This record gives sequence, C-alpha cells and structure tokens, in this order.
Amino acid sequence: MEVSNKLINMFTVTCQDISVISDAFSKEMVLGLAGEKSTLKMLPSFLAMPSGMETGSFLALDFGGTNVRAEGIKLLGAGKWAINGRKAIPLKSLEGQYDYISAETPAEDLFDFLAKIVTSVMEPGNTYALGYTFSFACSQASVSRAKLISWTKEIKTAGVEGKEVGALLKEALDRQGANSVTPVAIINDTVGTLLTAAYIDGSADIGAICGTGYNSCYFDSTTGMIINMESGNFAALPINVYDEQLDAMSEKPGTQRLEKLVAGKYLGELVRLVAVDLLGIKAEPYSLTSEDMAVLVTLDYYENPVLTNLTAYEIKIVRDIARMVVERAARLVAATFLGVLNHIDAELKEKHIIAIDGSLYEKMPNYKEAVNKAINEMLGEKAVNIKLELVKDGSGVGAAVAAASALLAENNY
Ligand code: GLC
Repeated sequence: MEVSNKLINMFTVTCQDISVISDAFSKEMVLGLAGEKSTLKMLPSFLAMPSGMETGSFLALDFGGTNVRAEGIKLLGAGKWAINGRKAIPLKSLEGQYDYISAETPAEDLFDFLAKIVTSVMEPGNTYALGYTFSFACSQASVSRAKLISWTKEIKTAGVEGKEVGALLKEALDRQGANSVTPVAIINDTVGTLLTAAYIDGSADIGAICGTGYNSCYFDSTTGMIINMESGNFAALPINVYDEQLDAMSEKPGTQRLEKLVAGKYLGELVRLVAVDLLGIKAEPYSLTSEDMAVLVTLDYYENPVLTNLTAYEIKIVRDIARMVVERAARLVAATFLGVLNHIDAELKEKHIIAIDGSLYEKMPNYKEAVNKAINEMLGEKAVNIKLELVKDGSGVGAAVAAASALLAENNY
C-alpha cells in the first residue's frame, strides 16, 4: 500500500493555494482593523516599537499553556540584556500529581501557582515591575489591562475567561506576600518575540510563534502599535476530512481553524487520525506528540509505543503522512506571512525581519526550510528583503522591554 494521490492532494498546498490564502489573509486583516466581521481579531497591544535603548531590571513571567517561566532580566540598552535567575515548571506534571490547565482547576489555584514561581526568582527587599507574557487572545484597555477573551490550545482552567488577567495575578502575588511586584505590561508571546527582535534590530516588524499554538503580530504604522492578530483563528483555508474530524472533537469546534492545521498541539493528532483511517492503528487521541513527530519524520524505522503492532512498512507510511502534515503546516504559515507583508509593504520596498519563536520552527525537521522555500517560491528575487529569524526567549526579554516601555510612557504623561 502506498499513500494515495487522493491523500497527497488533500495535504498539498500549491503556489496557487498560497496566493489565494495570502490574499484572503490581507483582506481579513483590513476587515478586522475596521472592526468588521473577520476571523482575525487584530488586538491592539498599546505598545509601539522599542528604541533599543530601554534599560532597567525587571521580572518577566511567561504563561503560554505548556510551561510557566519566571525570569529576572536586566536590560542594558543597545539591544543587550542579562538574565538574573530563571525558573520554569510545567503546568501539568507528567506523573499526574497536578494539572493547572484542567476544567476542574479554579483560577485562584492557577494564579497562586504562577505567583509562587515569580516569588522564587525575586530577591528579598526589592520592588519590581513585571512584564507578563500571557499567550492567549486578550482584549486590552491599556498596556497593563488585559481581559482573556477565550482560552485556546485546549486549556480549560475555570473562571479566567472574561477576567482581567493582570488583576488575577496581582491578587495572587498579594496572597503570596509579594506585594512589591507590580505587573506593568501584559503582552502576547508574538508581541514579546517581535519586541525582542526589534530591541536588537529596528527592521523587525512581524513576530510569530510556531509552537504549541500558532499566531502572529506586526507593527501597524497607522495606529503606531503592535497588533496581535490571533492569526491561529484564520479560517479561509482548504480544510480536509481529517481537519474536520479533529476540529469536531476539539475543546472549541469552529475556532482556531488555522491553528488546528499548523500548530504543534495538533500535528501529531492529525497524523494519528489519518493513520487510524488508513491503517486501523489503535492509539489514544493526542498520544502522538509533535516531539514524536520530530523523530518520526527523520527515521526509516520507528519504535514509538504509540505505533506498536505496525510493520516497518506501515511505519514508513505513517512517516510519509507526518512529512506531508509538516510540509502543509509550513506552507500555510508562509502564506500568512505573505498576507501580512502584502498589507504592510505590498511592493516589498523595505527590509523586513520576521521574528519567530517556538518549538516547531526551532526543532521540527524540514519545517523552517519549508517555510523559507515557500516564501522564495512566491516572491522570487523580492525575497532578498525578507529574513526569517529564530528569536529565542522572546517571551522573557520581550516582556522586560514591554515593561520598560510601559514605565517610560507612564513617566511621560
Ligand atoms: C494561541 C493563542 C495565541 C498565542 C499562540 C501561540 O494561538 O491564542 O494568543 O500567541 O497560541 O502561543
């Protein structure tokens, strides 16, 4: 048995498809900005681009849905920084002792957990401004006031949707005796990634996360702000029967359609659904992770417990499916980057750095290459002005840069 042409077609994104998708993406950006019906939320961050000269010591808290991380960060100016202390803990223990992202967990428990991690990197007696990366769709009233619109990435903690996440954190910090810490900026992880890149190089103007989730932001020169697009919710896409199945069984069907085709949380599940259909394999939902996929795509023979009882030949088929799923993800993501570029500089006259963080972009074999290849295919010579750059720890440094900008803005009023 081979992977059929029908299946290959279902997962192939042609140049023609990319062109249609990127045009639709640009149009949805315009609609979203005008407050009209759009799958792109286009959320203002209340942050402009940094000058690169921001300085000072800050705490940074990063909550993205998989781990929580707190860091002490000293911004030195001229695009430089130093890290003073760092702690990272998963939100759900592997051994099943705790789970802060389940529907049974009340908001207070989750935020107390976050606050404790913050206190573990503090030095006694100091007062701190904290930059808080909260990697979910939030509507912001100012840089320090952000309300969670709705959870994504299958997170379910009770009592957080519709609430001010800065206030929830501040109350938890107070309960932990850390009232010397003030959250001064709340940002999305895409915004943190862009701020970090722009702190070093002013030509960075697009930020993206290709990790557990998928999202992107850009600097909007009309409003003078970075806009979090929540592009994982983009929906003008060719969707196949497996995408439909995955969506129907997800926590929030009908939402985050692009994310469910391209993000690390879902790639393994898509492969599992195809493999169940084609080979009748028995494997629990979400048992094939993107870490498994990263191994699977490179091997001829693969001994994952998820794939027991398969012959080496069948495993090769699963591997081929995994490769198709990864390549489709990369090409769809490239299409969205082209949509943003088209909106901000249709002629591509300027240099643009697209700052990207996330485990898929960093670690998934052939992913980064496939994104770059699609951009080159579509732009030809004009691609010289576009640079995709891996930016690590954007959420930490970016949160500190955001905190510094927020304090500067406050002092200027
Ligand atoms: C999800 C969130 C978004 C975040 C992305 C990457 O799409 O809704 O806010 O940026 O994941 O973590």
